[in-house]
Amino acid sequence: MANHREFDTDARMDWDAEAASFDDEPDHGLRDPEVRAAWADRLRSWLPGRACDILDLGCGTGSLSLLAAEQGHRVTGVDSAPAMVDLARAKLAGRDAAFLVGVAATPPVGEQRFDVVLVRHVLWALPDPGRALRHWRELLRPGGRLVMIEGVWGAVSPVGIPAERLTALLESVAAHVRVERLSGDPLLWGRAVADERYAVVAAV
Ligand SMILES: C[S@@+](CC[C@H](N)C(=O)[O-])C[C@H]1O[C@@H](n2cnc3c(N)ncnc32)[C@H](O)[C@@H]1O
Repeated sequence: MANHREFDTDARMDWDAEAASFDDEPDHGLRDPEVRAAWADRLRSWLPGRACDILDLGCGTGSLSLLAAEQGHRVTGVDSAPAMVDLARAKLAGRDAAFLVGVAATPPVGEQRFDVVLVRHVLWALPDPGRALRHWRELLRPGGRLVMIEGVWGAVSPVGIPAERLTALLESVAAHVRVERLSGDPLLWGRAVADERYAVVAAV
């Protein structure tokens, strides 16, 4: 990991320490059937209709990976926190899924290529999002797509990446970019939210 420091996120965030309680948030653990169904419906609409290979970067405990696997896709998940990877492996035990410890910006997938790079709530914290997007494009097969769920959280000291900035970064990366606003759907978050939340589906 030390060799990848320049690609890593904020070192002050201890994601290993967060892992055990991470799924307690409704949109993280997707334990509430209504929240889970809301994410499953959205994910189905963002992913190809046929079974495909998905790379879930910063996969956390594997909640979106599991939804994708349940929809018939093969999943490779990558996360820099070993405790998150352990939980993802347990969550998807017996599924067509593999989980690796590694950094999202340069995931350790060798020559393997994917139909979808899926990223939720990770890109905003990378030190050079544009560089990550350019690398992820190279990990896609022809006709592949980036599916990113991001936002800007908090009122006093907001953090995140506005959709406008992300779409600007994608101008030189993707041929077609679609932004879907998610703030207005309380079922996704388990409550009403007022801040900016969105998904971007970018065909390369
Ligand atoms: C907010 S959580 C999102 C987890 C998952 N994508 C989800 O939506 O449930 C951020 C995750 O990204 C991981 N992460 C943070 N920086 C990373 C990096 N540079 N490379 C790989 N994973 C990273 C953390 O360990 C954590 O699991």
